[in-house]
Amino acid sequence: MNDETRNFIDMRTKSFERNGSDHGRLEEKVAIITGAGTGIGEAIAHKFAREGARVVVCGLPDDPIEDVAKAIRQNKGKAVAFAGDISEERAAKQCVDLAIKEFKRLDVVVNNAGVFLDNVPIDTAWTHKETGPMDKEMEKTLIQAVPLARRGTPEEVANVYAFLASDEASYVTGALYVVDGGTTIAKGPVGDLVPEKLRKEPKGELELQHSRHGLRNKQTHKVKPGKLKSEG
Ligand SMILES: NC(=O)c1ccc[n+]([C@@H]2O[C@H](COP(=O)([O-])OP(=O)(O)OC[C@H]3O[C@@H](n4cnc5c(N)ncnc54)[C@H](O)[C@@H]3O)[C@@H](O)[C@H]2O)c1
Repeated sequence: MNDETRNFIDMRTKSFERNGSDHGRLEEKVAIITGAGTGIGEAIAHKFAREGARVVVCGLPDDPIEDVAKAIRQNKGKAVAFAGDISEERAAKQCVDLAIKEFKRLDVVVNNAGVFLDNVPIDTAWTHKETGPMDKEMEKTLIQAVPLARRGTPEEVANVYAFLASDEASYVTGALYVVDGGTTIAKGPVGDLVPEKLRKEPKGELELQHSRHGLRNKQTHKVKPGKLKSEG
């Protein structure tokens, strides 16, 4: 076996030993993920750990943050949990202190904790009528509005965060990444949510004779060159 092959095998072995990942795009980085006990945040925490990051799994005291941190460690990743309301400055500072104390540095903060406000159906508790605030109609419409015709997975969102937090995004500054299956650009069938009685066209008062007689344009009708009336 030559040196090159040995090095390659060493590298692969180390990578698998580290955390089951052969990526390592966030090797050596330390990241705080807020709202990491559930949903998208959980996926970001796992993804970052798989990529080699050391992770602070931050969430409210009742969130399953210890579970997530434990699962990451069981996968040979590195993680600690931090419980606190991150909207309070004191808790935010404590969270940063914990990162520095445990891992000696801080490279990335993912501000994921928050309130669902968007019209994008990622597959978390918010977007299921059984677990979130939506009724059956809203859930259906939300998914119909997605050109990719399905919910996005928390992992698909986490993949984008992992790229942005990695050195691969070294020339990206202040860019907005929309992870929405095309919803924003398509605008979606929001009219489906309007009650039937509000969908009637108004009758109108003008005596319109030709409102549906149009369609003529250069593409559909050859306009013969002729004299204008005003030319006699
Ligand atoms: N699910 C979607 O379809 C969707 C779409 C667009 C945007 N988002 C955004 O993505 C983020 C995550 O959404 P999700 O669906 O995973 O929701 P989620 O409710 O599963 O996760 C959010 C987590 O943040 C925690 N949290 C809330 N406030 C906190 C605070 N002050 N301090 C610490 N932790 C706090 C919650 O307890 C929860 O565990 C949210 O900001 C949401 O607005 C979600």
